[in-house]
Amino acid sequence: MHKVIVLDDLAQEGLDLLAAAEGIEYEICTGLKGDDLRNRLMEFDGAICRSGVKLMPDILEGNSRLKAVVRAGVGTDNIDKPAATRAGIVVMNTPAGNTLSTAEQAITLMMGLSRNLAPAYQSLCEGRWDRKKYMGTQVAGKTLGVIGLGRIGLAVVARALALEMKILGYDPFMSKERAQELGIELVETVDEMLPEVDYVTVHTPLTNETRNLIDMPQLEKMKTGVRLINCARGGIYNEAAMVEGLKSGKIAGVALDVYEEEPCTDSPLFGMPGVVCTPHLGASTEEAQTQVAVEAVGLLTDFLTTGTIRHAVNVAPLDPKTLESLRGYLDVAYRLGMFMAGVQSGAKSCRLIYRGKITESDTKVLTAAFSAGLLQQALSAEVNLVNAEMMLQERGIALATESRSDMGAFSSSMTAEITTDQTTHRATGTVFGQSMPRLVALDGYRMEAYLDGCLLIFTHEDVPGIIGGVGTICGQHGVNIGQMAVGRAEEQPRGHAIGILNLDAEPSSEALEDIRQMAAISSAKVIQLPQAGDLPSWLQG
Ligand code: NAD
Ligand code: MLT
Repeated sequence: MHKVIVLDDLAQEGLDLLAAAEGIEYEICTGLKGDDLRNRLMEFDGAICRSGVKLMPDILEGNSRLKAVVRAGVGTDNIDKPAATRAGIVVMNTPAGNTLSTAEQAITLMMGLSRNLAPAYQSLCEGRWDRKKYMGTQVAGKTLGVIGLGRIGLAVVARALALEMKILGYDPFMSKERAQELGIELVETVDEMLPEVDYVTVHTPLTNETRNLIDMPQLEKMKTGVRLINCARGGIYNEAAMVEGLKSGKIAGVALDVYEEEPCTDSPLFGMPGVVCTPHLGASTEEAQTQVAVEAVGLLTDFLTTGTIRHAVNVAPLDPKTLESLRGYLDVAYRLGMFMAGVQSGAKSCRLIYRGKITESDTKVLTAAFSAGLLQQALSAEVNLVNAEMMLQERGIALATESRSDMGAFSSSMTAEITTDQTTHRATGTVFGQSMPRLVALDGYRMEAYLDGCLLIFTHEDVPGIIGGVGTICGQHGVNIGQMAVGRAEEQPRGHAIGILNLDAEPSSEALEDIRQMAAISSAKVIQLPQAGDLPSWLQG
């Protein structure tokens, strides 16, 4: 008999399924914390939770009984995945169950803002009949900016189109053709949409790139009277900037469902005119909760009774022996994916060419590792070997692979080619020794660069003084250079070249601008990769 613990409130339909499942017995224990939580978990084979319980390393470490935790919902921020992986616990989620409800919440908040719903009702409760004060605005004919065109973003788009709104969308993983089919005018940067939109809604995960995505400089570019909605994750809008924007009249309304710190019962925004806030209710509908509960129970019972793993966010479908033999190349593939995402966003298609001895192995998992690297920064769900290719497909990014058994310059190598609407980039990686990932070619330039840490990549004319000049600027801005590689076009001097520096710290935007201003430099960008030896949780031994 497998024992299951339900750690947060779960819809009755899910509990009924648990009760009916053969070979499963369950207990509901909500509100557990600390030692109570840690100790109770040791008595169960599987757990189901929502966002209430916190499953951090101190709770999971040393648990040799628990095999799986299923999150009834999308975000697994409340579960420490590396700790779960280390403890051999599969973490699964239900990515689509609450999509429609959250999209409806975003639309509800947009309409509520437009028609002053909350303050108008409040005025009635306070005995006032104030029709003039609450003049609203119509959404039909207005422009909505949608940042993040994944599951929820696209559901919002479909609903806003039915409200006769014009849609400007931004998502680095959406192609122009697909956007056009969906009725979205795709822009290339968030900045491009800002002067045009009457409303903005965000539907991205919270990442380094999306934190403070809308801050003071972005507000300045917007129309006076813009209205902002966030049902994704707190921190994407800078809350202090929202307060300033409301005070100055730049912003007419802010609607939030999510906050930097949750629970949040005290915010300078609460009570300000033009603000409507809800306590993280996006997924709080009977339908969404039923769906995520039923899906979560299905995932857990399937796993416990048949070993099937679906929607896993932390495990690789590999047996330990294969993982060990491929670990170096899995690492290169993953890093090459992250590198290519940094070289060029908006991939429409990818081609991977495996060459040499590596073609005798299971290159499918290498392809999955590359895909995971390519998407990792952009998606809310953790991308791993299990889910990466499916996520590429869902985003309409075509993936092709080729194997060539001849060795070329290295005994094994993999080349990644990504194509966008405008351009194609190509990079080749290999492993030196057992575990040293290297970039050996980029866009036709041969080189030997470390694929780790902070990379500064610049294209330049191959004339004297470039490396020295870049080095001097780095020095002036206090950035230490760890390694350096230069590749020449067709290996001929005095043509064009690419330089790659491994820096000890990310250069400031001023330092980068100084480098870009050098006469012989045509482009410069920074790409952050994991430090050498840092592997994603699903690749750790
Ligand atoms: P998803 O993974 O399907 O979509 C996220 C999209 O964001 C992807 O298409 C990705 O390409 C895009 N993206 C990533 N970085 C970007 C950037 N810098 N700029 C523009 N686009 C970027 O996720 P989803 O299921 O649609 O969920 C979206 C968000 O909503 C997540 O943060 C999720 O945790 C949150 N959520 C909130 C609630 C709620 O109750 N309020 C409920 C469900 C989900
Ligand atoms: C999610 O990640 O699924 C949402 O934020 C909703 C929730 O936590 O209930």
